Amino acid sequence: MELPFSESYKIKMVEPIRRSTRQEREKWIKEAKYNLFNLKSEQVFIDLLTDSGTGAMSDRQWSAMMIGDESYAGASSYFNMKNAIKNTLGFDHFLPTHQGRAAENVLFSALVKEGHYVPGNSHFDTTKGHIEFRKAHAVDCTIDEAANTEIYHPFKGNVDPKKLEKFLSEKADKVPFIIVTVTNNTAGGQPVSMECLREVRKIADKYKKMVIYDSARFAENAYFIKVREQGYANKTIKEIVKEMYSYADAMTMSSKKDAIVNMGGFIAMRDQELWRQCSTFNIMFEGYVTYGGMSGRDMNALAVGLDEGTEFDYLETRIKQVEYLGNKLTEYGIPFQFPAGGHAIFVDANKVLPSIPKEQFRAQTLAIELYLEAGIRGVEIGAILADRDPETRENRYPKLELLRLAIPRRVYTNNHMDVIAVALKNVFDRRNDIKHGLEIIREAPIMRHFTIEMDRIK
Ligand code: F0G
Repeated sequence: MELPFSESYKIKMVEPIRRSTRQEREKWIKEAKYNLFNLKSEQVFIDLLTDSGTGAMSDRQWSAMMIGDESYAGASSYFNMKNAIKNTLGFDHFLPTHQGRAAENVLFSALVKEGHYVPGNSHFDTTKGHIEFRKAHAVDCTIDEAANTEIYHPFKGNVDPKKLEKFLSEKADKVPFIIVTVTNNTAGGQPVSMECLREVRKIADKYKKMVIYDSARFAENAYFIKVREQGYANKTIKEIVKEMYSYADAMTMSSKKDAIVNMGGFIAMRDQELWRQCSTFNIMFEGYVTYGGMSGRDMNALAVGLDEGTEFDYLETRIKQVEYLGNKLTEYGIPFQFPAGGHAIFVDANKVLPSIPKEQFRAQTLAIELYLEAGIRGVEIGAILADRDPETRENRYPKLELLRLAIPRRVYTNNHMDVIAVALKNVFDRRNDIKHGLEIIREAPIMRHFTIEMDRIK
């Protein structure tokens, strides 16, 4: 008999979690103004708010932390991180930052000006925020297949080269660079193929533009290339990653994802002049160029994390767990962005709650119901996150209303996945009894989803 698949690690340290009662959760979510970000973590049983900074570090990472060098300038930890970036990603120059959006802030301060356009594949909200904050525009050139949750596409995160080329043929003079997000978080943790990366490079060369990768989940992207794209089955993840970055000029990184640390980020680039320009902003916003908002121990853990995060066995364990949850939902008939993404399952709230008007925020309504059902915290990727149009101030209603269930790295077991699937099934089975959604009571002018206050429509 063939041995079943199992995790490529064992557990050395545990943290208790506690189930609550429905009555407690009713009270807590009301106090939290129907915003899951406002809950205390102890009010949550299984926390799928994000896979960002919520992973479990390895024994190797913890031991690297103990020998972190906390010198202000020129710390050995900085050089460990520099070597790891060079070895894994191939870039000669880099700047540490405290997290991914800080990397965007520093890099965009050097490159993005008022009136610019930045084409790419479904920019993440902080990326879009940093573009729009500079009175520039994010232009989404993702393939159309991404908006249909039911159809299979092996690389649903792809940039549509025709859309990109058309946009550049019209507005190239106003484009500072092209940004490709690997994996494409907003479209459902969906990967971008090597073929697509190569094509983007070709188009960029034609118009003499830089290509920048928003790299939060680059290793998960490489895993999908290995298992789905012709010609890569016998290559290692590290070889695939090297090829991916051979088509990029620079990258921003939220290390809280695929580098498996709790805090940290960086910018890496080929061009020393760009590094010089960014250094000034890094010193202003983040810290000196050899620490940029990170402590030495954290840079050490990050260096090890880049190595572990690009190991096939680890990635297979991780991505198969997400797939396991997806298969359960398929079994129960619950619609989600198909196939399952690398870091999360994105439940299709338009299909689960079609009778709730979109103005009442279907995905957020579903997120609240799942929390009430079992204390599971997901996150809305829909109209609340999409924010208002900066000019008209009208709500933007994206094609997809998704409830994202992001799975932290090396944290939960498949028993937890079973609980999540059954909780969601229970909500799904009583979906016709959910008659009303939510209304906004108070919101911030930008990135409102973090602090929004809502109430139930009676
Ligand atoms: N880019 C992508 C694709 C991301 O998913 C994120 C963060 C960032 C940039 C910003 O990085 O949080 O370190 O500042 N995503 C988290 C999430 C917050 O839950 O998806 P950060």
